Amino acid sequence: MRHAVIRIRKSALQHNLQRVRHLAPNSKVISMVKANAYGIGVQHAVEAFSNTDAFGVASLAEALEIRTLGNDKPITLIEGVFEAEEMSIAIQQKFECVIHHQQQLDWLLEHKDNYKNAGLKVWVKLNSGMNRLGFKADQIIEVIQHLKNEGFHCVLAMHFANADVPDHPMNQAQIDQLLSIKQACEPIEVSCCNSAAIFNWADLHFDYVRPGIMLYGASPFFDRTASSLGLEVVMQFEAQIIAINPIKIGEHVGYGSSFTSERDITIAVVSIGYGDGYPRSLFAQNFVAIAGQKVPVVGRVSMDMITVDVSSIENQVKLGDIVELWGDTQSIDEVAQCNQSIGYELLCRLTKRPEVIVED
Ligand SMILES: Cc1ncc(COP(=O)(O)O)c(C=O)c1O
Repeated sequence: MRHAVIRIRKSALQHNLQRVRHLAPNSKVISMVKANAYGIGVQHAVEAFSNTDAFGVASLAEALEIRTLGNDKPITLIEGVFEAEEMSIAIQQKFECVIHHQQQLDWLLEHKDNYKNAGLKVWVKLNSGMNRLGFKADQIIEVIQHLKNEGFHCVLAMHFANADVPDHPMNQAQIDQLLSIKQACEPIEVSCCNSAAIFNWADLHFDYVRPGIMLYGASPFFDRTASSLGLEVVMQFEAQIIAINPIKIGEHVGYGSSFTSERDITIAVVSIGYGDGYPRSLFAQNFVAIAGQKVPVVGRVSMDMITVDVSSIENQVKLGDIVELWGDTQSIDEVAQCNQSIGYELLCRLTKRPEVIVED
């Protein structure tokens, strides 16, 4: 059988959630499981996060999938509903909605009694400079006051544009706006922290924190490793050596014959490719780990295979050996950086082809 395997460690997911609890002991935790739980599989995430307070997803379909798994924890739709018809399903299933524009507010008010009777809170989104979703500072106070007068329980929600760069000047501007609106709307619950913000600002954890990437064992920061942040590796992505070829000086390897050997080398062909979600960047110098040692990928990444120069460890490799694409030896963040990408994207780009093995 072709060996392309994603190992998911439940204990690491649980550890990383505990890390959030340790950092934000007085806040409720909304574990972000959108995009199939950042590519690791929503079922595995939901099972491992049995201790979370709630889940956060990007769409009604993602929320319904969690209910289909038999899970009845609170769920927040972080972009709210996308059309009027979704509001009644959201209420029936007890999904809390973000409201980020006037039309969503109108849809909510059309269902106001059912929404309130279901005991659901309304998440009112502030656009404090990210300029994607939300009401601007000069509108939101009126929106919140109106909702409160109608008897809604509101949560003031905000998202940082630069939480991964703690000293970015935009952060303070966003914080100032949030705090002044919070003050104008007291009493009100507040939520503004994603993973990076949870690490940066203990004084901004407020009522709910919304961790995503840190739960999955990757770093939200470019210059801080996941292990230095106390996170455990969740995913071990591996394949196998399926051929070993001697390559003479001047010979080429792979599509486009783009790699030309400058000396006699040994190439291992490995059972992974972009068809599995391994990144294909023409300019990246990728590495893989074999027997705990990093060796370079040479030639182009194909759909099903990559080719690796194992000359430095040729006496230690044989057909069938396991190759780590990312995991314990080489973090997903290192691979992402080699590919001018981020751990988030590599996780979300994984395809359905690799076998997924969930380990305790
Ligand atoms: C509104 C919101 N909150 C929280 C998160 C989680 O962010 P992170 O994965 O950086 O922790 C996201 C992710 O995109 C988000 O959109």
